Amino acid sequence: MEKQSERRREAEPKVFDRELEKLWQSIDGEKKRYATLPRVLKFNDVPWTQGAQAFHKYYIGPGPQWRLKQFPLFSMAVVEQLIPPGGKSGRHRHFMEALFYIMDGEGYEVHDNVKYPWEAGDVMMVPTYCVHQHFSTGNATARLFFNIPSVFEHLGIASIEQMELHPNYEIPPGAKAIRDASGTMVGYKTTEGMEIRFGFNQDLQKVMDEKKETGLSGKAKETSYDYYIKTLKEQTEFRLNVPHVIRAKDRPWENTRMGKIKYLVHPSTPSALLVYDCFVQEIPPGGKSGKHRHASEEVHKILDGKGYDIQDGVKWEWAKEDVVAIPTNVTHQHFNADPPGF
Ligand SMILES: [Fe+2]
Ligand SMILES: [Fe+2]
Repeated sequence: MEKQSERRREAEPKVFDRELEKLWQSIDGEKKRYATLPRVLKFNDVPWTQGAQAFHKYYIGPGPQWRLKQFPLFSMAVVEQLIPPGGKSGRHRHFMEALFYIMDGEGYEVHDNVKYPWEAGDVMMVPTYCVHQHFSTGNATARLFFNIPSVFEHLGIASIEQMELHPNYEIPPGAKAIRDASGTMVGYKTTEGMEIRFGFNQDLQKVMDEKKETGLSGKAKETSYDYYIKTLKEQTEFRLNVPHVIRAKDRPWENTRMGKIKYLVHPSTPSALLVYDCFVQEIPPGGKSGKHRHASEEVHKILDGKGYDIQDGVKWEWAKEDVVAIPTNVTHQHFNADPPGF
C-alpha cells in the first residue's frame, strides 16, 4: 500500500499552481486602487437619472461596472430616490434586501399587499423576494436614501421582476415598446438590441410557491434535514412578520463611546434584514465622535451641518447632503467644523 502510493506520487506531473497567489495579489491591488478614490461625494456632483422604479442618484450603483469608479465601497450600492407628491415608485420584486432612510416627505409602503406607513427620519426595510412599492402622500417630494448589499450579485440572484413602471417612466431614446395583444407595454427593445421584459418570472414564482408549501416530514423524530427545513421556514416567516418600518420617534438617544447615537437598526431589535446596522449621530459644534475601525464598510449621509472626517490620517471635508464612505479597516473619526456654541 505504502509503495503503491509512493509510485503514484512519482508518476504525478509537477504543476505549480499560482492561481491563489494571483487572486491575493489582485485583491491587494484593488484595495490600493480604491484607497485612492474620494471618501466624500458631493450631492450636486451626482446627477439624477430615470429608472423603472423612480428618479435616482447613484453614489455607487449595483453591479461590477461601478467598482473602483467613483466611490471606494465593495459591499453595497448607495442610492437616493425621489417620489413626487401623490406619486409612486415602480412595483417590483428581487432577492436583494434593501434598507431605506427616509430623508424627506411622508408616505407608505406596500410589501406583499401589507401597508407600512413612514415619514422623514424613519427607516424602512424591504426583505428578500418581497413585492414592494413606495407611495408618497405628503405635499413635498419624498426622498429615500438607500443601500443594497452587493452579495446578491455574487450569488447570481440579483435579477428584478418588474410588475409596474413608475407613472412618469419613459423608455430610452430610440427604444421600441413591446406590447401584448391588448396593447399594454410589456417591455422594450433598445437601439443596441437589448430586450427588457416586464412582469413576473413564472418559473421562479412556481419554485418559490413550492418552497412556501414545503413542510416537515410528520415523523415523530426530527432529522437534521427536517431541522434545516424548519429553520429556513421560520427565518422567512420572521422576516415577513416583523415591522418593516422603524419609527425614529420610537427609538431612544444614547450617550455612547462613539458619541450621541440613536440606533434605528441594531442586532438587539427585530429587523426584516440580515446585514445592516443603521444609526443617526449628533456631533455638537466643535465636537467630535469617538475614533475607531472595523472590518465592515460604512456609509454616512450628512443630514445637517458641516465638518470633516480623519480617515487613516487624511482629512476629508463634508457638508449637508454629502455622502461619506468608510472603507474596511480604516481608522476614522468625525468632526463638527462649526465653533463651539454655534
Ligand atoms: Fe427594490
Ligand atoms: Fe465606524
